[in-house]
Amino acid sequence: EDGKALYTAKCQSCHGADGAKATMSKPLKGQSAQAVVKAMEGYKAKTFGGAKKATMENLASRLSDEQFKALGEYIAKL
Ligand code: HEM
Repeated sequence: EDGKALYTAKCQSCHGADGAKATMSKPLKGQSAQAVVKAMEGYKAKTFGGAKKATMENLASRLSDEQFKALGEYIAKL
């Protein structure tokens, strides 16, 4: 999976091109690949999140483990 293409298409509108946008959530910039994967798995399993988790649960439910990994690796380098 291409983490950059996935991020650009599905994440950047809310989290910003550099992952630093903090208006919606804690910024993604600075998070490890492992932390991103763990959060995405948690959203998919509905065991993680805050007051605005519904959006992320919907998104995560349509993504695979391979896609979580690719996104985590890309975000960790932002
Ligand atoms: C939270 C990743 C797309 C809105 C998060 C968090 C991660 C994440 C890892 C948890 C941050 C933390 O608490 O440390 C992603 C990825 C995306 C994506 C990888 C693309 C696949 C979007 C989109 C929106 C959005 C498109 C807006 C429509 C939010 C909001 C939160 C959040 C509102 C806080 C949710 C809560 O209350 O738990 N995102 N995001 N995200 N994201 Fe995204």
